[in-house]
Amino acid sequence: MRFSELIGSFPGETTLTARPRPYINHSVEFKGVFNVKDRAEMLEAVGLNVFFFPSEMITGCDFLSDSGTTSMTNEQWAALHLGDEAYGSNRGYFLLMEQVRELFGEVFFNKPDARRPNAFIFHQGRAAEDALFSLLGKTGSGMIIPSNGHFDTTMANIEANQIQAINLFSPEIKRGNPDFRFKGNMDLERLEQMLEREGEKVPLVYLTVTNNTAAGQPVSLENINHTARIAHRFGKPLFLDACRFAENAWFIQKYESSYRDLSIRDIVREMFAPVDGFTISFKKDGLVNMGGGLFLRDNGLFIENYPEIPDALVNYQVTKEGHPTYGGLSGRDIMALYVGLKTVTRDDYLTYRIQQVQRFGERMAGLGLPVLTPVGGHAVYLDVNRFFEGTSMQAQDFGGIAFTAVLLAAYGHRACELGYFAFGKMDPQTGKDLFPEINFVRFAVPRLRYEQDDLESVAEAVKILHRHRDIIPAVNVTYGRNLPIRHFKARFEFRK
Ligand code: F0G
Repeated sequence: MRFSELIGSFPGETTLTARPRPYINHSVEFKGVFNVKDRAEMLEAVGLNVFFFPSEMITGCDFLSDSGTTSMTNEQWAALHLGDEAYGSNRGYFLLMEQVRELFGEVFFNKPDARRPNAFIFHQGRAAEDALFSLLGKTGSGMIIPSNGHFDTTMANIEANQIQAINLFSPEIKRGNPDFRFKGNMDLERLEQMLEREGEKVPLVYLTVTNNTAAGQPVSLENINHTARIAHRFGKPLFLDACRFAENAWFIQKYESSYRDLSIRDIVREMFAPVDGFTISFKKDGLVNMGGGLFLRDNGLFIENYPEIPDALVNYQVTKEGHPTYGGLSGRDIMALYVGLKTVTRDDYLTYRIQQVQRFGERMAGLGLPVLTPVGGHAVYLDVNRFFEGTSMQAQDFGGIAFTAVLLAAYGHRACELGYFAFGKMDPQTGKDLFPEINFVRFAVPRLRYEQDDLESVAEAVKILHRHRDIIPAVNVTYGRNLPIRHFKARFEFRK
């Protein structure tokens, strides 16, 4: 028997329950040595706001964000050396242009000789949002932008320009049917009603893929196409907030049967085919630590409706960020981004990445912890209300904030409250708290960074906190309860 035939008679590697990662550690960083007392003292010093806790003191995992926290590949580190820091038309600009054209469509990055600028590089996503909405805000008043779920900075940028930001979450997110995989979808019925009722106020329709605010749930291609048809019927351009486009494409390939046989790259092209423009933070699926962009379809509906905006964007960019050929990025950042965009659509990368997040969530669920399932693409969301069930914790005690402080002090893991505090508001008239519908703590998993043991240790720590949830104290807000985007700034203390 030939060796290859003999080997073929062993059960294949796909039958293994523990599969190796599709990458290795190229270089590692040792953590600092700190104990519970050090962490608790520091947390008290920073008013229990985990954003102000020094990351060097994090002895566990840092789940504050999956944004800009990617460990870069050796090819990206090598590419940094090829960065060209020219003030105009650096080497990376042309490579990035070709990559964007290939990945999302030629129509989203006109070559300089076309003299129709439509691709704008920024230092991060929110800078691209500011450019878009501040220019749009100048074109009229009383506008409304509907979305399947605006991210917090996106909403803040829209509202800063006196435009109303409306979330039309899919009803499926509440129904909780575990077999329905696209809970990030737009609520098409409400979108249609809204456009019929007050369409004249809507400059564009926005779809966030995956839907970060709706627990990182994906959006189906059917929903993208349907949203586009409705928007276009009313003459409205459709934009994607495309931060996690590759993760969204993976879910489409896996769970939307008509697209099972397409490659990730083909699905990405399909996702962007009906779209008139997109904003993106490359700190997610660009696999880089900094970068963002705004891309408009050449001759698309947005440019048709707002023909003066592309040139205004060039002015904005030159005065605020840099020449359009580097925008807000250094030449070396652009090189790392170019390589990151090639890597992010690899099947082996995406499958491991998303399954790692899913295993993490399923492990927590298996331990009886109330996490949102099915788990989305980039994060696990713990339901704070259900976590504290059976205790005296009330909404105004901000249990999510207390949970993140205790988890960080006791076990060295940093998670982020995205619930009653982050999305809540203080009524300026009555001084009472206004609570949003959702109350989560988010564990956003950085890309290419943690191993299974890391995540296992977190699940165990959360389980211990759950067992002792009745001794987690309530918090008082000592600063910032009345401020906008207050979770970034506020301070707290444990109630005695
Ligand atoms: N849109 C979405 C859907 C996002 O998740 C983010 C950032 C942005 C826009 C803004 O991009 O950070 O480059 O300015 N999300 C991060 C998070 C910060 O933790 O979810 P940025």
